[in-house]
Amino acid sequence: MGVIDRYRERLPVGPSTPVVSLGEGSTPLISSRSIGGRLGVELHFKFEGMNPTGSFKDRGMAVAVSKALEAGADGIVCASTGNTAASAAAYAARAGLTAVVLCPAGAIAVAKLAQSRAVGARVLEVRGSFDEALSSCLELVERGSHVLVNSLNPDRIEGQKTAAFEIDEELGRAPEVLALPYGGGGNTVAYAKGFAEDGARLRLISAHATERATTVASAIRIAEPAHLAEVEALVADGTVEPVPVSDEDITRMWLDLASLEGIFCEPSSAAGLAALAEIDLEPGSTVVCVLTGHGLKDIDAVEVLTASATLVDPNVESILAEVSR
Ligand code: F0G
Repeated sequence: MGVIDRYRERLPVGPSTPVVSLGEGSTPLISSRSIGGRLGVELHFKFEGMNPTGSFKDRGMAVAVSKALEAGADGIVCASTGNTAASAAAYAARAGLTAVVLCPAGAIAVAKLAQSRAVGARVLEVRGSFDEALSSCLELVERGSHVLVNSLNPDRIEGQKTAAFEIDEELGRAPEVLALPYGGGGNTVAYAKGFAEDGARLRLISAHATERATTVASAIRIAEPAHLAEVEALVADGTVEPVPVSDEDITRMWLDLASLEGIFCEPSSAAGLAALAEIDLEPGSTVVCVLTGHGLKDIDAVEVLTASATLVDPNVESILAEVSR
């Protein structure tokens, strides 16, 4: 069951809204077996990489594309560091709409581009940064030909907030702390909204790359967050704590997640965990770390950061010689 069917009464949909779904949401909440102990807390990972296109974007995309279809749109458009594009492309294909996706040329993981191409989106590589791609995308939307499905579209935030509902349901209450990466800030705003609608008060830790414009975590390589004003308002009222994290810390936590927990996410997804390691946490408290995208999204990172495979002959001596090395 997708997010619209699961949370229909809490979403801006009516009986006549067509449901465009790929079965998004209901992602696993995985208990930490190692890192939580190190931090002295009861830690869980909300693995959003298990969504249909491999990232958290699918929740909001299901709602945004359903609403675009209801409104009679022919096509949708987004600017993206890759995951929004892959999600928009898939949901557009599902809905029978055309999708135009604008990505910064040469700056996004190839698997994400492949996902968009495979389902037939019009993939445009923009000679410029994500921020430049987003401003030209907004100009295109003003011409009236395409519906925007970046998280500036409020339907995206509505669908995305369902992740907070799921966490509260699964734990039987809200966690004391939730940590997640902060790129454009849409996800931060969505979790804040979801928990507020559940009547929950908690610490929301939004981890942003110290070097926003150049971080290794290409998904969050965004110099000017689209939701900056909203996030600042949430910081001012004490809901959100922004925490800067270095590329080195992101990378270390990404490797720890894989080798100590068996969870393979993309590098940007480890930013929340890097932030948790930086801040003071109440011992024994319940903490949820959101892992936003699947590791298969960014295998270039694996090439650079892990040991390569070893070539062996097809006999047991040769294999044993390698494994005992
Ligand atoms: N994690 C992943 C894997 C992402 O793809 C993104 C954003 C974020 C975290 C940050 O979320 O922007 O809501 O604060 N990706 C966007 C995209 C920019 O185009 O796919 P945010």
